[in-house]
Amino acid sequence: MQKKEKKIGALILAAGKGTRMYSTSPKVLQELLGQPLLWYVYESTRQVANSGLWTVIGYGREQITDCFPDQQFIVQDKQLGTGHALQIAWDTLRAARLDYILVCNGDTPLVSADTLRSFICQAVEANSALAFLSLELDNPGSYGRVIRDHAGQVRAIVEARDFDREKYKEQKNEVNSGIYLLHANEIAPLLAKLDNHNAQQEYYITQLVELALQARLRVNAVCAGCNKELLGINTARELVETEEFLRDTIVQRWIDAGVRIRNHSQVRISAQTHIAPGVDICGPCEIYGASKIEAGAVIASHCVLNNAHLGACQLRPFSHIERAEIGTKTTVGPFARLRPGSCLDDDVRVGNFVEIKNSRLRSRAKAGHLTYLGDSDIGTDVNIGAGTITCNYDGQKKHTTTIANGAFIGSNSSLVAPVEVGEQAVIGAGTVVTKTVPEQHLCIARVRQTNLPHRKKKQ
Ligand code: UD1
Ligand code: CA
Repeated sequence: MQKKEKKIGALILAAGKGTRMYSTSPKVLQELLGQPLLWYVYESTRQVANSGLWTVIGYGREQITDCFPDQQFIVQDKQLGTGHALQIAWDTLRAARLDYILVCNGDTPLVSADTLRSFICQAVEANSALAFLSLELDNPGSYGRVIRDHAGQVRAIVEARDFDREKYKEQKNEVNSGIYLLHANEIAPLLAKLDNHNAQQEYYITQLVELALQARLRVNAVCAGCNKELLGINTARELVETEEFLRDTIVQRWIDAGVRIRNHSQVRISAQTHIAPGVDICGPCEIYGASKIEAGAVIASHCVLNNAHLGACQLRPFSHIERAEIGTKTTVGPFARLRPGSCLDDDVRVGNFVEIKNSRLRSRAKAGHLTYLGDSDIGTDVNIGAGTITCNYDGQKKHTTTIANGAFIGSNSSLVAPVEVGEQAVIGAGTVVTKTVPEQHLCIARVRQTNLPHRKKKQ
């Protein structure tokens, strides 16, 4: 007979302030490559928790719920410790009739679903009432120390501040990662027994180890060696070092997949970005959000992308692309800025110091120099002269500019929206367009040049 699948729920502890981060936002919202720590924890835990995912929040809780509106939260008003956080959540977890509860600290973002899966398997196989993932560190720092007896059996987790070097001098540098698997029925009677008789006067989840052993329950530490995935983030140093580890891991993975990442130590790529093999990227360069870069794209140095979708285009140096799409054979930059809602079709040319927002440029359109195009629809083969500005804002509302196929906009023109320029129309340089220009017409609206004789007589 097939074994019944165990019901596993996950509880993420994220109520603490993270005092050592010196930030006004809660620690779990600090970012690694553009995503909050919690985002990473959700990515991995949701793959192993088959029966629900809850997060304990407290400090800065509105910021967290705003950031993750679809998650289930449990509020811990006073942060009296990790054990207290579990006590607060217990009724909710019990109501879900779980077999096991996976508890993860919200400040351990890099733990992978694979690591969690293998930990859960080992803990369930071993029939543990309580299991936790441990790791070995050269410098155990502020981590809770794993105490084993001579037979190698786990006896306790002792927090760094309560650790008596004399008493435990024979211990290895094995520490607690803050990831636990609890057998719901077996651990239930122990919860009320947690106390706060320790250096920080907090209720520690780690005290469950001793309580379980006293109750003659099975406790296992699953040691993951020096797996860097399990490092917690408590300080600025830990944040930037973890980010650097993640950055390098991601970049190396894409290089192995066939992406040419030159000067790769200065390239930052978010975890959600997807890049096709053969794409050429030169650092320094930053690619964030759910960006997608298709085969044939070439990205020069100093570009910053955020949720960009690139076809086989060329980005010249110092171009910034946010929530924008760029088609095949299109070239952008140097020094171009595409803001949200910009869409460049195929064979488009956008040159230096051009800013585009919420606008579409259709095939073969060109805006080579010093231009602002906002809320506009630019037809095929349109030429936008240097210094063209769409005046899309009247102080209260935004208005659209439509330029039909084949139109030619002379340099230094202003297009006061809402306005339309017809097909093949030509706008003379320096024109301020305020009314519709019919197709195939020439429009000039500027002061006619007058040449007057020089007043001063030549000597
Ligand atoms: C904790 C463990 C330690 C382990 C380390 C691994 C305890 C007592 N210690 O220490 O053994 O080596 O993690 O990184 O658990 N939190 C709450 N409510 C609270 C207090 C904390 O939700 O009342 C949350 C925090 O937001 C954080 C997590 O629990 O995400 C861990 O808390 P933290 O204060 O960082 O514990 P550590 O001192 O790192
Ligand atoms: Ca921590």
